[in-house]
Amino acid sequence: MIHLFTKKYFLVDYLKGFVDIHNHILPGIDDGAQNVEESIRLLKGMQEFGVGHFICTPHIMHNYHDNDRQSITKAHSRLTKALADTPKAPKVFFAAEHMIDDNFEALLSKNEVLPLGQEHVLIEMSYLQPSINFDDAILQLLQKQYTPVLAHPERYLYYHKTPAIYQTLKNKGVALQLNMLSLQGYYGKDIQKIAYYLLDHDLIDFLGSDLHHSRHLETLKKIVIPKKYVDKLSEIITNNIVHFI
Ligand SMILES: [Fe+2]
Repeated sequence: MIHLFTKKYFLVDYLKGFVDIHNHILPGIDDGAQNVEESIRLLKGMQEFGVGHFICTPHIMHNYHDNDRQSITKAHSRLTKALADTPKAPKVFFAAEHMIDDNFEALLSKNEVLPLGQEHVLIEMSYLQPSINFDDAILQLLQKQYTPVLAHPERYLYYHKTPAIYQTLKNKGVALQLNMLSLQGYYGKDIQKIAYYLLDHDLIDFLGSDLHHSRHLETLKKIVIPKKYVDKLSEIITNNIVHFI
C-alpha cells in the first residue's frame, strides 16, 4: 500500500512543560529582544508551544556585552513589571551566558557569575577559535562546585574535524546544551550534521532555544525531527525540566 502522507514530527509538539535554559528574551541588553514589547511577543510565541518557564541568559561578554547582575536584574524587572497584569504570565528567571574570555575567571573569583539554577553555569566560546583559558575556566568552575554547561557545542566549527573532543569535554565534567534550531539546519548543514552526531552518541544533556528574535521563533515552529529521535529528544526535554524547574 502506498502511503501518500507521512507523519511529520514537529519538535514544538514535544515542548509542553519545557524549561528553556538559554535565550535572549530580556529586553534591550544584548543582541536579543530590543524592547519589552518584543520580549513579550517572544514569550507568548513560546507559550503557544506549552513553554511557560524561562531562565533568560543575556550575554556577558567583556567589551561587547558588558552585562552584570545589575544590568540583568534591571532588564528582568522591567519585563516582570510589564507581565504583572498578564493573565497566565510565564515564569521568567535570569542567569547569563558567560563568554569564556579574558575576564571570565576574574568574575568567577569575585563570585560574580550568574548561575543557571543553583549549580550550573552556561558558558560559550567564540565561533572563530577556542578560548585559550577554556581548560582553566572549566577547572575553576568545577572547584567551585559548578557544572559548566557549554552552549551550542555543535556550532563550534573548529571541533567538527575532531568530534571525539565532545566526549573528552564530557569526561572533564562539561555538560552540553544543543540549540534546537541546529536540528533544522538553521545554522547550516554541517552544524545540523554534528547536532545529530551528538544525539547519536548520547552526548547532549540539555536543549535550549537560544531565541533572539521572531525569525528564530518562526524557524522553531518548522523543526521536523526524524521519528527515531523523538524519544531521545523527549528525554532531554525532561532532563531540562528535572534539573531546572
Ligand atoms: Fe545564546
